[in-house]
Amino acid sequence: MCGGSGTRLWPLSRKSYPKQFSKLIGPSSVFQQTAQRLSGPGYAPPVILTTSDFRFIVTEQMAEAGVDPGAILIEPEGRNTGPAVLASALWLARDDPDALMLVAPSDHMVADDPAFRAAVLAGVPAARAGQIVTFGIKPTHAETGYGYLEPGEDPGDHAPRAIPLRRFVEKPDKARAEAMLEAGNYLWNAGIFLFSVRTILEAFEAHAPDLIAPVRAAVDGGRPDLGFLRLDPGAWSGARDISIDYAVMERSHSLSVVPLGAGWSDLGGWDAVWRESGPDARGVATSGAATALDCDATLLRSEDEGLELVGLGLRDIIAVAMPDAVLVADKSRAQDVKDVVAALKAKQ
Ligand code: GDD
Ligand code: MG
Repeated sequence: MCGGSGTRLWPLSRKSYPKQFSKLIGPSSVFQQTAQRLSGPGYAPPVILTTSDFRFIVTEQMAEAGVDPGAILIEPEGRNTGPAVLASALWLARDDPDALMLVAPSDHMVADDPAFRAAVLAGVPAARAGQIVTFGIKPTHAETGYGYLEPGEDPGDHAPRAIPLRRFVEKPDKARAEAMLEAGNYLWNAGIFLFSVRTILEAFEAHAPDLIAPVRAAVDGGRPDLGFLRLDPGAWSGARDISIDYAVMERSHSLSVVPLGAGWSDLGGWDAVWRESGPDARGVATSGAATALDCDATLLRSEDEGLELVGLGLRDIIAVAMPDAVLVADKSRAQDVKDVVAALKAKQ
């Protein structure tokens, strides 16, 4: 899934070129890293779900990453992840309704590929038995932008295995997030899911039946076009905008969780990018033509070769320079960058 637009990483992440396609950490984008992670032995070629705006970025980056897509489904417009997952399930059902689908976002990083693979394999028996398998991350703070998972039993320190899930709470408010962190047994939802095509289609029938007719018509009426399958725009516009988390996960009683300790980060803000960029002993991370003099706990990025960015005596600062925009922010305000984007939009 790579159809979203992340605004908290402005000015690098833009509506026309969102964060999943940007080279945030290392030489490839998180979309490319995801495509490579999900195309090793045992996987069928990945099915890419994206919107019309990103179709050429997708083909270019897949070619650069050396991964052949199994299919690229083009949503005429973004309807969030619910309809996108349903469309891919209906598309896969034409070949094999018992196939297992691993659904992954493309906007996060996973540092430890073998641990990720072990967690996926640990979820396979539960998925074959008709469960919807989620992957749980040990929470570090009361984040309100994630889903929370309550395992039915203590996962302990065993090798990864699927545990029945008691509750799935999508994006709680601050008080609820704090209470779940305090309780100590909740995990964050990584946004990655494993299930059979049949299981997820039954879950949509049960919990979001209104999506089935429009999305099925959009897939059946899809038009092959330059290697893409363009879903039918008229039918698609009849599908409600809803995430898979709200449409299915919060309502299903057949959920399991596999704990995932694979260096997961959703790069949900510049503070996370700073943390993942390998800051030096003083906490300084630079990239591009950026120089830090006597700085602490600071991220300096210049995304323009001709633009020298210099920080002097800074502490807890984020500075990101693009050819046409520069962000300078206090690191503790990293999550408020989305408000900058809204303010700029209002000014236009
Ligand atoms: N194809 C397609 N179409 N992809 C989409 C669309 C769409 O309309 N909308 C979002 N996506 C993609 C995004 O690019 C991203 O890779 C993924 O689907 C997840 O969407 P987000 O919008 O980033 O979701 P979120 O971060 O708010 O929440 C989800 O992820 C969290 C972990 O990062 C949820 O699953 C949470 O429960 C979870 O904790
Ligand atoms: Mg996200």
